[in-house]
Amino acid sequence: MKYIYLDHSATTPINKEVLKAMRPYLGENFGNPSSLHYFGQKARKGVEDAREKIANFLNCKNDEVFFTSGATESNNLAIFGLIKKIRKQNKDRKLHIITSVIEHPAVLEVFDQLKKEGIEVSYLPVTKNGLVLEDDLKKAIKSETLLVSIMYVNNEVGTIQPIAEIGKLLEEINKKRTPEEKIYFHTDAVQAANYCDCKVSYLGVDMLSFSGHKIYGPKGVGALYVKKGTPISAIVYGGHQEQSLRSGTENVAGIVGMAKAIEMIGKKDNLKIRKLRDEVAKKLLAKIPDAIYNGDREKRIPSNANFCFKNVEGESILLMLDMEGIAISTGSACSSGSLKPSHVLLAMGVPQEVSHGSVRITLGKENTKEEIQKLIKALPPIIKKLREMSPIK
Ligand SMILES: Cc1ncc(COP(=O)(O)O)c(C=O)c1O
Repeated sequence: MKYIYLDHSATTPINKEVLKAMRPYLGENFGNPSSLHYFGQKARKGVEDAREKIANFLNCKNDEVFFTSGATESNNLAIFGLIKKIRKQNKDRKLHIITSVIEHPAVLEVFDQLKKEGIEVSYLPVTKNGLVLEDDLKKAIKSETLLVSIMYVNNEVGTIQPIAEIGKLLEEINKKRTPEEKIYFHTDAVQAANYCDCKVSYLGVDMLSFSGHKIYGPKGVGALYVKKGTPISAIVYGGHQEQSLRSGTENVAGIVGMAKAIEMIGKKDNLKIRKLRDEVAKKLLAKIPDAIYNGDREKRIPSNANFCFKNVEGESILLMLDMEGIAISTGSACSSGSLKPSHVLLAMGVPQEVSHGSVRITLGKENTKEEIQKLIKALPPIIKKLREMSPIK
């Protein structure tokens, strides 16, 4: 059977050119970049050239890019690291931090942990289309607010949040506050990197996280941009790599691969992906009754289509499509495997019983029109069959 992969928000296949760039660093260039000899310096050059490419993409300085094991670690470092530094400076300072209800668990769980530690936390709601409103943020800000962390693109419904607008708003607010009262701004840009402008000056962010494996690069590698002057402490201790902010021998091949993947991000694929995605949305909504298209129609990345099909379970749809060789997801990869309803859809006001019938289809560069036609042909009879079997009518 020829398998069709339509789950690119979970992870992407490694691009051939990326693999080619990585290979020498898994072979002859195996040195430890901290070693002073020839082998070490070869590896160091790979890491520093990669840092430069990533800095170019983000439009920041090379020494503002820190390598990590992925976006989960980048998010943890950004948020815990800032709080830790501020607490070191003044342990009695009252702190308030803001995020949105639709963040990935790699942010939400960090906020939940900090809440348990006594920090005041505000969770911004979203509209029924899955968008954060600047007005809600304005209302949530207090004199004690230290951090705002809002994701650039939601991993389940693909909505693009107004990060640059929030950046401008915070800049204005910060002008009226003392440097000690500055509100720092972090964004999880994992799902945005392929499609959105990630220049940090345009976004007005102090910290930005991303990951290799969502951009046709390798897994287990990511980066955190930290603007010069942002107070941040390490949360991992050891050999003082990455300016002592992230100890541990660098994943040289992964870093080189991630930088190559970033270099290859291009707008040319977006149009093709958008056309195929729009075809999926149009055809499935026309062929399947009681189907809801989740998320904003305009403010969403071109690869994402997210539906709720009433009176069916998303997991059953996923398994039946898998038997036909088509891979999709019921929500984020991290929440699949659990039957918990999607926190994102619930936050958008989708009733719990309807949210159980959600599926996420995310396209990529390699998908073809023929593959999309197969999905459009396969899915309607599956939904029909599942509905006939369902006790709920
Ligand atoms: C929005 C978002 N943030 C963070 C992560 C975690 O990234 P990583 O797998 O690199 O730890 C993901 C992965 O699904 C994601 O979609």
